[in-house]
Amino acid sequence: MNDREKQVVERTVDFVRRELSGAESGHDWWHIFRVWKLAERIARGEDADLFVVSLGALLHDIADAKFHDGDETIGPRMAETFLHAQYLPENIITGVLNIVRFVSFKNRKEKPAFPSIELQIVQDADRLDAMGALGIARAFSYGGFKGREMYNPDIAPAPDMSKEEYKQSESTTINHFYEKLLLLKDMMNTDTGKKMAGQRHRFMEKFLRQFYSEWEGKR
Ligand code: ADP
Ligand code: NI
Repeated sequence: MNDREKQVVERTVDFVRRELSGAESGHDWWHIFRVWKLAERIARGEDADLFVVSLGALLHDIADAKFHDGDETIGPRMAETFLHAQYLPENIITGVLNIVRFVSFKNRKEKPAFPSIELQIVQDADRLDAMGALGIARAFSYGGFKGREMYNPDIAPAPDMSKEEYKQSESTTINHFYEKLLLLKDMMNTDTGKKMAGQRHRFMEKFLRQFYSEWEGKR
């Protein structure tokens, strides 16, 4: 990245930190920070535009639909307004907005505007942050925020929900593992992402085994 690009990245960091102050702790600035750093790391193994990757990672959750009555246009619109105010070339703006629009797990059955390694990288980074120890912490943070039950053996998981069903699901946090978290490892795009996902996946499986034995009072 050249100096001008680094400056824009810094302005974006300030903007995102300000916008997300007070957000639920699974979706706050620190989630963005982790995804940004992970995306940089994954990008090192790929032939990608690091400027687009950084801006995409920083802006990817600028206004999550689930905290805005399901409105999925707010995030991309805010990102677009911000990017235009930075006087960036049109191809950079298009590349970043392609990430902001299509990164989300709930949109996994939709095709992006165009294929892009930068989108694949940010997607892997975002998915990794939903796995492993951090993924577990985020799931219970979100479940608590929503007042959900941690676990209920009488409610079966539904791993094949449509997008609308997924958005409206009020299922338990343990079920969320089967409806999303354990599906992520087979959805990774890059080699680095796949490798890191394998490790985080095994950690979640171990956590679940321990959780069930404690639930039954066996350990
Ligand atoms: P995306 O932003 O890619 O659409 P989500 O919003 O579904 O993905 O997930 C963002 C974070 O919130 C993840 O860490 C995810 O595990 C957590 N989360 C989302 N839905 C639930 C849920 N029903 N129960 C527990 N955690 C959830
Ligand atoms: Ni995210």
